[in-house]
Amino acid sequence: MDATFTYQKIVAYKLKMACSNPFTYCFLLFLSLIGSSIAASPSDDLLAWVQQDNRRFLNAVIRVTNLNRTIKFYTENFGMQVLRQSDIPHEKYSYAVLGFGPEDSHFVLQLRQNYGGEKLKLGTAFAHFGIATQDAYKMVEEIRARGGVITREAGPIEGGTTVFAFVQDPDGYMFELIQRPPTPEPLCQLMLHVSDLDSAIQFYEKALGMKLLQKYDSPEEQFAIAMVGYGSNLTQITTVELRYNYNVTEYTQGNGYVQVAINTDDVYRSAAAVKLVSQELGGNITRGPDPISKTTSFLDPDGFETVLVDNRRKKE
Ligand SMILES: *[C@@H]1O[C@H](CO)[C@@H](O)[C@H](O)[C@H]1NC(C)=O
Ligand SMILES: *[C@@H]1O[C@H](CO)[C@@H](O)[C@H](O)[C@H]1NC(C)=O
Ligand SMILES: *[C@@H]1O[C@H](CO)[C@@H](O)[C@H](O)[C@H]1NC(C)=O
Ligand SMILES: *[C@@H]1O[C@H](CO)[C@@H](O)[C@H](O)[C@H]1NC(C)=O
Repeated sequence: MDATFTYQKIVAYKLKMACSNPFTYCFLLFLSLIGSSIAASPSDDLLAWVQQDNRRFLNAVIRVTNLNRTIKFYTENFGMQVLRQSDIPHEKYSYAVLGFGPEDSHFVLQLRQNYGGEKLKLGTAFAHFGIATQDAYKMVEEIRARGGVITREAGPIEGGTTVFAFVQDPDGYMFELIQRPPTPEPLCQLMLHVSDLDSAIQFYEKALGMKLLQKYDSPEEQFAIAMVGYGSNLTQITTVELRYNYNVTEYTQGNGYVQVAINTDDVYRSAAAVKLVSQELGGNITRGPDPISKTTSFLDPDGFETVLVDNRRKKE
């Protein structure tokens, strides 16, 4: 029995019930039902469902050349905790999951070190992670004192109010330290370079159900950014910062930043929505939806990978 048939049966039933009432009510209901069945196509329903799905950022995966060195750097300098750590000998890598709180409620980083020790090429497409701190000046001084590399001193931009700094981890990954009031999600940002800002925003809104929280265009400095995420208060959640540098459309993906994972109540419907939006805006499903892992992977229009993980998936 297909969904359309069921829907028609419900409509017929509703009409039958309503028609035992006075004629005018029956007639109006009939009109409204006809109207709604014309207006809502299956693809509209799918995209509307995406907006209501139960999602958050789960984790981002990056490759590192020396797991212990990176763990030391993130725990000492950023205050992250090691949540779990393990070896996967049959796939020849070790990993550690680090974060500011338990994985079931926080966005976390998964660091992977391959046994082979292949060379890490960071590429130019992935830009940086953001860490929220209540005192960026103090964090910078402490990182400097431990020998860390500061690439931008703490302070606002001219005329701005947000205090921020940039530091580099031992592999060269950039971290923006953003001064903010206390937040439940200190691992608060990942910035990606895109070649067309408006279509990237549309993709993240329509295919992934994120909200556009902020947009900023600076013709003087030749760039534009947009912040998208789940939730409404930028300082309390994790966001993706999409950045368009004027007239730059070619970036290299490298092999450092791997992917970001997001959860969903239904990986099949999520994959169908991504497929639908990809036909219009670009992007590709690369794996699944897989009935065993209950995940699907896809590339956004700029080639960044996202994994959608079903909430019904059993914990590993
Ligand atoms: C990394 O640290 C763990 C425990 O802290 C230690 O057992 C392991 O030998 C270290 N690995 C390397 C390659 O130094
Ligand atoms: C965001 O949350 C912070 C902390 O709760 C609060 O101080 C701030 O006013 C909120 N901003 C907006 C725009 O609601
Ligand atoms: C450079 O980018 C800006 C903003 O996207 C655009 O308006 C302009 O036409 C571009 N210039 C060239 C030479 O492509
Ligand atoms: C998606 O796949 C199509 C066909 O295989 C290809 O032309 C396109 O470049 C791919 N897009 C991305 C973002 O990889």
